This record gives sequence, structure tokens and C-alpha cells, in this order.
Amino acid sequence: MTLRTIVKVDDDNPVLRMRAQVVPAVSRRIRDLMDDMVATMRDAEGVGLAAPQVGLDLQVIVVEVPEDLEEPDGPSRLWTLANPRVISLSEAMEEGREACLSIPDLFGDVPRHVDIVVEALDRYGRTQRLELSGFEARVFQHEIDHLQGILYPDRVTGPDKLYYLEEDAEGNWVKVPLAAPD
Ligand code: NI
Repeated sequence: MTLRTIVKVDDDNPVLRMRAQVVPAVSRRIRDLMDDMVATMRDAEGVGLAAPQVGLDLQVIVVEVPEDLEEPDGPSRLWTLANPRVISLSEAMEEGREACLSIPDLFGDVPRHVDIVVEALDRYGRTQRLELSGFEARVFQHEIDHLQGILYPDRVTGPDKLYYLEEDAEGNWVKVPLAAPD
């Protein structure tokens, strides 16, 4: 396994804004890529990674979410998928905090569908149908967006929804807006 370099928005690499190519078949090369992406995601302490983020114009994502969000180091669920697409989604939406390994230090409050159904190929090329909700559904929507060249700041409802977090003198995390209000 090889750690891949994560493309950042400041690199001006167009791959982050491209529509990724469909994977014709889950070959050995694609499985190796999935394994490298899992290693890279874990090394960066992320919960998801899309192939464009390692410079490849391919519809491949990996997601790893703790079973219990209160215990980030406990057991987790891991998906390695090609050609994921959302085939149905709930009308209900929920705003929640997101970050992206390609956009260092920034956070955003992003509206996402609460429940989604995703169809994708697993690492053996089998079609899988996944019913996801809450945080898992959020991470999948974020990663599938990457395959369309969409980054989470595109999805926020206003500039005040994008912010940095800085620790104040009392040790509290304080939001510092990306765009200072006029
Ligand atoms: Ni991202």
C-alpha cells in the first residue's frame, strides 16, 4: 500500500473540479487504488476520500465512519466503492458540520439529505445497494459530490456558514468566519 498525495484547493489542480470518469470494471488496479485511498484517508484522519482528491479522474470513493460517533477510536464501518450514485433521497434535510481533506482548516455547516439510497460496485465488482442515514449519508453525499467536481462550500446557504475554528484564551473553540460580515 502506498500513501497518495492529497490534492488541495490551493494547488489549482483542475481534477478537483472535473466530472470523474465511470470505472468500466473493478480491476486489480482499481482495488490497489482503493487500498491506497483507505491508507491515505486513515493517515489524514479523514472519514472519506474520493479519487479526484488523490489526483485521479475516476469514480472511486472510500468512506470509514465510527459505528458510535461518540467513540471515534472504536469499531468502524468501511466502504470501498466504484461508480456510486444516489438513487433516492429523503426530502428531509439537516445542516451539519463538514470539513474536507482538500480544504485545510476550513469548516462549514452544510445542508444534506437525511436518508439516501446509494448503488455502487464494491471492490469485487458486485452491485451493492446501501441505505444510509444521518452522518453516514452526509459523508456519502460529500464524497459523491467530489465525483461531480462539487466541493462542500458550494452547498452552504451563506458565507456565514463557512468558518475556521480558533481556540480562545479560555480554551473554547470559537468560530472565525471566512467572510467577515460587513
Ligand atoms: Ni472532501
